[in-house]
Amino acid sequence: MSDDRDRYFCTVQTPAFVVDERRIEDNLDVLTAIKARTGCRILIALKAFAMRSTFAGIARALDGCCATTPDEAHHGRLHLGGEVHAGAAAFSDTDMDQLIEDCDHIVFNSFSLWQRHRNRIAAASRSISCGIRINPGRSLGKTPIYDPSRPGSRLGVSRPHFRPDLLDGIDGLHFHVLCQQDAADLQRVLRVFEEHFGEFLHRMHWVNFGGGHYMTRPDYDRDRLCGLIKGFADRHAHLRIYLEPGEAVVLDAGFLVASVLDIIPGESMPIAILDTSATCHMPDVLEMPYRPDVVGAGTIGARGHDYELGGLTCLAADVIGRYSFDSRLRVGQRVVFSDMAQYSMVKTNTFNGVRLPSIYRIDRAGKLHLERSFCYEDFAGRLA
Ligand SMILES: Cc1ncc(COP(=O)(O)O)c(C=O)c1O
Repeated sequence: MSDDRDRYFCTVQTPAFVVDERRIEDNLDVLTAIKARTGCRILIALKAFAMRSTFAGIARALDGCCATTPDEAHHGRLHLGGEVHAGAAAFSDTDMDQLIEDCDHIVFNSFSLWQRHRNRIAAASRSISCGIRINPGRSLGKTPIYDPSRPGSRLGVSRPHFRPDLLDGIDGLHFHVLCQQDAADLQRVLRVFEEHFGEFLHRMHWVNFGGGHYMTRPDYDRDRLCGLIKGFADRHAHLRIYLEPGEAVVLDAGFLVASVLDIIPGESMPIAILDTSATCHMPDVLEMPYRPDVVGAGTIGARGHDYELGGLTCLAADVIGRYSFDSRLRVGQRVVFSDMAQYSMVKTNTFNGVRLPSIYRIDRAGKLHLERSFCYEDFAGRLA
């Protein structure tokens, strides 16, 4: 399977995202098994991955999507189908008019927001199930920028601000506190959630456990996850349980293929400038920050030829990381970053006019498709 992929890496026009649907299918098999074992429903978080040419398989396996904005919700309604849920820190009146057209569930981040929009929802021609995002107040995140329960967080209603008197019309509670975490962390969250909010669950129809469950990783404790979901379902038999992972759906399914444009001397090692950019094409590398893996490369010192890989923008910090290769890099050579499906394509930008990576898909039969390439108009079209 990887042979044809390696061949494609040499032939695509760079920079390019290459998404392998066979790997998405592997992840979907894992998620389908979790659904079958527990009876929970699983939505894909479009904020992580929204590549519509891969949606057919995702739609078959999962129950729908969760969106942050009206545009994401509309994308889910148009191209994925199934249930469309939306939740954000806030919605404007205009947002709400569009969300009402596309959503089955809307989750509010505060009771004030719920109060402001509830009449609009009640007057809608379709039935929409409303929920409140709560903040269990237990910080477990390892990366502060991705920790919705960090002290002072604006995400979710904490127990002291929870308003049982305003629950009329609310069907569900939602929490999202994890990021790349194991079932043991979910267990901790569930304990605090039930301790603080358990008394309201008899009034609800559903609970959403959010995303951040690393459940398609080989070492994730899926037995424990299934036990937790089933245990919760046994204690609250009337509740429907949702999970809304993003990353887990497309883990290890995407690659960003770049070419070396130049090699310049650096202070401690040569620097290879690529036709991609951390800030434009993989901003999480700088925001999180983290060092993405490169196919066939190791940590510096490990393989004999060390390089810093840098982007082509003017940003001084547009550096992807330091790597060791078996042989010297040359201009024109391909460099392939792995695990690039989630939070990459959805976050790209055209800073400096850097062109967006082309988008390729490898279908289930192993055939490569060029889904999209970009041009000057895509840069200019975002500006006035
Ligand atoms: C509310 C909500 N749900 C789901 C997700 C998906 O998380 P992940 O991609 O880590 O599974 C996120 C990610 O930020 C989120 O904010």
